[in-house]
Amino acid sequence: MLNLGVLASGRGSNFQSIINEINAGRLDAKIKILITDNPNAYAIQRAKQHGINWMYVNPKEFSSKDSFYEKLADLLIAEEVELVILAGFMRIIGKPLIDAYPMKIMNIHPALLPSFPGLHGQKKAIQYGVKISGCTVHFVDEGMDTGPIIIQAAISVSPEDTEQSLSDKILQLEHKIYPEAIRLYQQGRIRLEGRVVKILDYVENNNYIINPRL
Ligand code: GRF
Repeated sequence: MLNLGVLASGRGSNFQSIINEINAGRLDAKIKILITDNPNAYAIQRAKQHGINWMYVNPKEFSSKDSFYEKLADLLIAEEVELVILAGFMRIIGKPLIDAYPMKIMNIHPALLPSFPGLHGQKKAIQYGVKISGCTVHFVDEGMDTGPIIIQAAISVSPEDTEQSLSDKILQLEHKIYPEAIRLYQQGRIRLEGRVVKILDYVENNNYIINPRL
């Protein structure tokens, strides 16, 4: 059983998808704590509904970015969290947390990295005119969406797509591949070679390219 800690700032639909996979018995993990930087995050309601321990930590109460992240690391370590899941946590992670959890923090990004890092990945994809987009689960390093890529899922972008319609389609993929990445980690199937993630027993059949239209 893998102990997870989730950091979220908002709606928490990815948080919910992980809860659902655990409850369905498809992911051998326990969410030990939800930490949020937003007292109005809907993710808190989700935690309450599922009896998950949660905590609001106000970044403004800390004198520096480092001291905020030291606090988060302390809370996660106290809960014996092994893997930290960023689920719509709208901040760049500070060094103290990265040092406490090296290559043990995952994030999901709504674009095919390294394209369109940062905010509004779906809008940038539409504006650029790409024909394929998707989402990426990656380990977190000190950069902005620059860490080693674990899995990605792709979807075609149609001429009619808007930022909203593309976001909706990508979100469906997010809810599939984030729990999948955590499952691979829990199963000990993720190996890091330099910045390249190797998935053990990877089946060469587009397993991690999900296109609902096909
Ligand atoms: C998702 O689009 C995710 O890719 C990005 O932030 C959004 C969070 O959505 N990092 P939710 O809070 O999980 O619903």
